[in-house]
Amino acid sequence: MEQTIYRGLEGVHIDTTTISRIDGQRGELIYRGYDIRELADKASFEEVAYLLWHDDLPDRAQLDAFHAELAPNFTVPEPVFEAFRSMPAATHPMHAIRTAVSLLGALDPEAEGVDDANVHRIGLKLLAQFATFTAAYARIRDGKDVIAPDPELSVAANFLYMLNGEPPTPAATRVMDVALVLHAEHGSNASAFVGRATASTLTDVYSAITAAVAALKGPLHGGANIGVMQALEEIGSVEAVDGYVVDTLARPNGRVMGFGHRVYKVVDPRALILKDVAKHLAEESGDSKWFEMSLEMERVMDREMAKRGKQVKPNVDFFSASVYRMLGLPRDMYTPIFAVSRISGWMAHLYEQYANNRIMRPRLTYDGPLGRTFRPIEQR
Ligand code: CMC
Repeated sequence: MEQTIYRGLEGVHIDTTTISRIDGQRGELIYRGYDIRELADKASFEEVAYLLWHDDLPDRAQLDAFHAELAPNFTVPEPVFEAFRSMPAATHPMHAIRTAVSLLGALDPEAEGVDDANVHRIGLKLLAQFATFTAAYARIRDGKDVIAPDPELSVAANFLYMLNGEPPTPAATRVMDVALVLHAEHGSNASAFVGRATASTLTDVYSAITAAVAALKGPLHGGANIGVMQALEEIGSVEAVDGYVVDTLARPNGRVMGFGHRVYKVVDPRALILKDVAKHLAEESGDSKWFEMSLEMERVMDREMAKRGKQVKPNVDFFSASVYRMLGLPRDMYTPIFAVSRISGWMAHLYEQYANNRIMRPRLTYDGPLGRTFRPIEQR
């Protein structure tokens, strides 16, 4: 019987969700009914994480209680840092943080339970600890001391503090908060899907999140933000952007990183917000090179794609690269920073998956040979 094949699972709906909705035609993203533009403008990352986990925004007392629950969890067990110290200096940070999640599972005697209370306990731990171990890895591989978290600080401020060793300015904290809000959740993207599929076997949270981190690393997903900055650095000037884009598109399967999206047919709304943030940072800092190169890349991509009758617009990873650059963050940490935020969305998906589970078990259509005759090894 002829089967319909959905390559890349395009258009396949695996379940219903109340976490977020993407309108790819209108370029809209909502988290539990709230427009991302309003959340980026007005909410902190903690408010958004609370929203994703508890259906609605917290009031002041709920937010204080949430912070009080998170604060003791910022501290990461020493064996995680020992594992980081044992890694070669050139280790991709995503290998390090994936290993950290896996190791946290091994160190947690209560790792196995997937009841609501245990999933929530581990969620709080991971939400707080992603910031700590990501910052710690960046310092350890540079031969620096680990900075202990400050339980008084927000996730955004703590991350910058633990990375740089000095309290961040309110302006840098706000930019980090906006970036974390924008990266928190995005429906059934590859890493959230992998996390849910892994959880659907009723394995533990750490295993599901380890799988999600592994999926995020890829250059077609979260790894694209590193690819964007690699490209901008390689290009080096506004004048050279045009040639780079034309040459890249002329190559078989040539991809310009930070452009295109499975769901958005117009500009990703997160890219528009980050474009404004990048513009503002460029004006404030007087370092407008990365922003101007990005604008030129957008212009040339529009022109080249129009020639091909396509619309391939910037996605979240495009302007986040220059934002992180202007914040002084190391290039190879861009994807791990995505994970520092996305752990909130991944956990929301695990709550949903465990609460109403059915194992994910799609099919492949066999297209290989049939009826072969087995010959003993001596006769092959
Ligand atoms: N550069 C050049 N051409 C592109 C690009 C791009 N970045 N993205 C899409 N296209 C073209 C592609 O050539 C294809 O043309 P055709 O139909 O003639 O073969 C058409 O647009 C559709 O692309 P697709 O690869 O079939 O679309 P997809 O939905 O399978 O893939 C994507 C989506 C995001 C993997 C892809 O757009 C891409 O490779 N982008 C670059 C990597 C990137 O920026 N990833 C970040 C994604 S968003 C945030 C996140 O998840 O981190």
